[in-house]
Amino acid sequence: LIDSEIKQKIIDELNESNEITNSRQFAIKIGKEHEEVVAELNSLHAYEILLPEVIQEDIWEPTQEGQDYIEKGSPEVIFFNSIPQNGIALSELQKTLGPIAQIGFSQCMKLKWITTKKIEPSKEEIEKQQQQKKKAKVDQMIFQKVEKIEDKTKDLLLQLTKSTISSKDLQALKRRKLAQIVKIKYFKITKGATFERLITKKEKVHTDFNKEILSQELWKDAFFKKYNFNALGIYSSGHLHPLLKVRTQVREAFLELGFEEMDTSIWVESSFWNFDTLFQPQQHPARDMHDTFFMSKPEFSSDFPKEYMEKVKETHEKGGYESIGWRYDWDEQEAKKNIMRTHTTAISSRTLNSLIGQEFKPRRFFSIDRVFRNETLDATHLAEFHQVEGFIIDKNLSLGDLIGVITQFFQKLGMNKLKFKPAYNPYTEPSMEIFIYHDGLKRWIEVGNSGIFRPEMLRPMGFDEDVSVIAWGLSLERPTMIKYKVNNIRDLFGHKVDLQTIYSFPLCKITLEKFD
Ligand code: PHE
Repeated sequence: LIDSEIKQKIIDELNESNEITNSRQFAIKIGKEHEEVVAELNSLHAYEILLPEVIQEDIWEPTQEGQDYIEKGSPEVIFFNSIPQNGIALSELQKTLGPIAQIGFSQCMKLKWITTKKIEPSKEEIEKQQQQKKKAKVDQMIFQKVEKIEDKTKDLLLQLTKSTISSKDLQALKRRKLAQIVKIKYFKITKGATFERLITKKEKVHTDFNKEILSQELWKDAFFKKYNFNALGIYSSGHLHPLLKVRTQVREAFLELGFEEMDTSIWVESSFWNFDTLFQPQQHPARDMHDTFFMSKPEFSSDFPKEYMEKVKETHEKGGYESIGWRYDWDEQEAKKNIMRTHTTAISSRTLNSLIGQEFKPRRFFSIDRVFRNETLDATHLAEFHQVEGFIIDKNLSLGDLIGVITQFFQKLGMNKLKFKPAYNPYTEPSMEIFIYHDGLKRWIEVGNSGIFRPEMLRPMGFDEDVSVIAWGLSLERPTMIKYKVNNIRDLFGHKVDLQTIYSFPLCKITLEKFD
């Protein structure tokens, strides 16, 4: 606790005299700055070793002019000492002493230290002055009148801070603008509640609980430092990660287009919802070890909606709804395997399924959340990334609707150059990959995948034949990398991210642009 020379001196003083009446005087006494002493007092006060009482006082202090007098002597003394034995003309002294001559002269007169004698101007001088239409100037001779003088003004100024001078003298100094009042703060210190325990008996201070204190019940008698709820703490303003900024923009774009947000809290998903409900055959390469993280604990999920599961099985095995199916033996055990969801389309599937039983109406859904894939990590691939998922359910939707809504969505984010390329997906037909032209890189960047959900996916759920769903899945990272000029995805997300770069990313990069 006593980890500095000043603290030791404070404690010694309290031990000796029980109190420190004035922290400022104490600081002078031990030859330290008052601020240093106050810092140490605060630190001891935190342990309640001492009790500080703030005292505010008005004190008199020499002004700058007063300070000059202390250093050089008062003008009256300088003036007096400049007068030779047989006197001198005032004009002469004014020349040599400058501005202080006038003050010195009037003070000396007041103190009756000098006598004066008028010097009558000569006839020629009077004539000269009259010609210039000026009043003749009267000079005077100055003589010392007393033998010995004292510099009382200087002495009073020196005594000022010691407050031993009379109020009459004070007023005189104030009138001459040599002294002024300043407010000062200091502390009166007495021993605090813990002085005895912590200083005299040197008891240990605890700042937190630990195993020993708890198990041996030491807390019953131990001394705990009080929490300082007034401490300012160390904080700086927070910084938003670019992905979060783009996520907000994406979310706002969807909300403005009338989309509802899906609940994406299920990160650990069953293969059933992630693959089977999406009409992905169980031998599909995406399902094997290379792409998917399988869970070991808990390894399996159960309780799928029984009737629906039977329909999924049948569709996989034999088809239906004008489909011939995948033609293999569907294995329930395979569907039960738990995985880290590989796409948020699992959420879309769950959401669609939850609409069954409600009165049909066109609806739009979106989500933005993490997905996981067992990928080889490189500059553009991570084992986890964020997917922007969306779908619209309505009657008789077409590919034109899909192209239209995706175009509209990206336009809202200020990206106008879009290209669609035919693609394949087990659960959509037709399917399209989405590309955005990056002006900076001068090339097309793939940002996502889309399509119209197949009847093999929707019909087993119970949707009517004329109900169609257009859907897409985008990467959140890709557009963010394009917008924030990040070349390596590992600089954006994951354990290699340099926090300093996050701090210095621009506040906003996506701008609303006019239609091309
Ligand atoms: N799930 C697909 C993916 O992860 C994206 C997608 C969603 C494609 C919806 C079509 C329809 O890439």
